[in-house]
Amino acid sequence: MSIFSNIFNKSNSKEKSLESNVNPITTELHSHLIFDVDDGVKTIEEALEILQLFSEMGYKKVITTPHIMSDYYKNGPENLLPKLELTKNKLIENNIAIELEVAAEYMIDDGIEKKIEEKNILSFGGENKYVLVELPFMEEPRNFKSILFSLQIQGFKPVLAHPERYMYYHQKKERYDELHDQGVLLQLNNLSLIGYYSPQILKMSEYIIDRKIHSFLGSDAHSFRHAAIINDKVISSKLYKKACEIELLNNTL
Ligand SMILES: [Fe+2]
Repeated sequence: MSIFSNIFNKSNSKEKSLESNVNPITTELHSHLIFDVDDGVKTIEEALEILQLFSEMGYKKVITTPHIMSDYYKNGPENLLPKLELTKNKLIENNIAIELEVAAEYMIDDGIEKKIEEKNILSFGGENKYVLVELPFMEEPRNFKSILFSLQIQGFKPVLAHPERYMYYHQKKERYDELHDQGVLLQLNNLSLIGYYSPQILKMSEYIIDRKIHSFLGSDAHSFRHAAIINDKVISSKLYKKACEIELLNNTL
């Protein structure tokens, strides 16, 4: 082998390994990057640090989703939109090339029913009207089915945040298939795919990925630390790559 082909092969293999770690997802859709409105980032500076890293990871667009819960986080367009504008201005000032939008992560509680009635829902994906919803970690709420129905009847497409994290589904995995069949789109958390939360949650992620019933992957980043772990460990992981083998909806947003 000539010295040139040797060099060529080396750089080629380096390119290949870089290529295999390229993030195929360019739109990130679940995070807590509007400062000081929930348990996510507290300052605009931390939001910018995370967005800078997301940009380096290949994301072109971020739809951030602050919590809306009737008990704890009484957020809405009135307080979120002005903070979104401030953050977008800072992105321009700091030359961070990423598109930023805001939607929300709605807790399935009594409050959301009223918001659906009033048509006061922050959705994403334009005409597709996706709505990110989460469940309490203790038990599936009794009104879950009726809220899903109310959303769907209004033309919204419910997206269930991190289904793999609800322990009460772990013993009845068929619930994931039922939800999928009912038109509920499943969003796995990136961090679940490396066992960050627990081995059991990793197992549930594997089940969902094997069944190919997930539609979105999301960071659920609450802090820079979350984003850094995703960058360092998740994107190059086997399970993340496997999860990306199907047509995810992230890049359609
Ligand atoms: Fe979240």
